[in-house]
Amino acid sequence: MEPDWSSLEAAARAVLPRAHAPYSRFPVAAAIQLADGAIVSAVNVENASFPLSLCAERAAVAAGVAGGHGAIRAVLLLTDASEPTPPCGGCRQVLAEHGSADVPVRSLTLKGHATEHRLGALLPDAFRSGSMDRGNPPPPGDVW
Ligand code: THU
Repeated sequence: MEPDWSSLEAAARAVLPRAHAPYSRFPVAAAIQLADGAIVSAVNVENASFPLSLCAERAAVAAGVAGGHGAIRAVLLLTDASEPTPPCGGCRQVLAEHGSADVPVRSLTLKGHATEHRLGALLPDAFRSGSMDRGNPPPPGDVW
């Protein structure tokens, strides 16, 4: 399935004004397309306790998981920055949990500048559940 980029952009444009970014004054919208074709969008939601702020991508992932739409097939980020905004490192890690290395991640500005990279290029050699493999399962009671 080819990503529906025009619907992803429309979804991101629709929610960008609802970003809650009074501290950074940097609104971000993310729209993701899932395996069943559904498009889910979200914005960054900042907090007066700054470290509790939530990036738009992670908010979109949470909504996608709750909707039961399956794995991520495409990601679009929209900001009003001069240059396309790359996803932050933490969001790359979270996206990689829910999408394969070939998922395209397109960053777009309101003026129409765009960049696009595969998730695997944004986060090579990602830490995954398999990274915690220790060979044989530990014996019962052995938590370490
Ligand atoms: N932000 C995102 O929503 N996604 C990113 O990938 C980069 C950063 C938000 C977090 C914060 O609300 C604002 O942008 C400035 O860092």
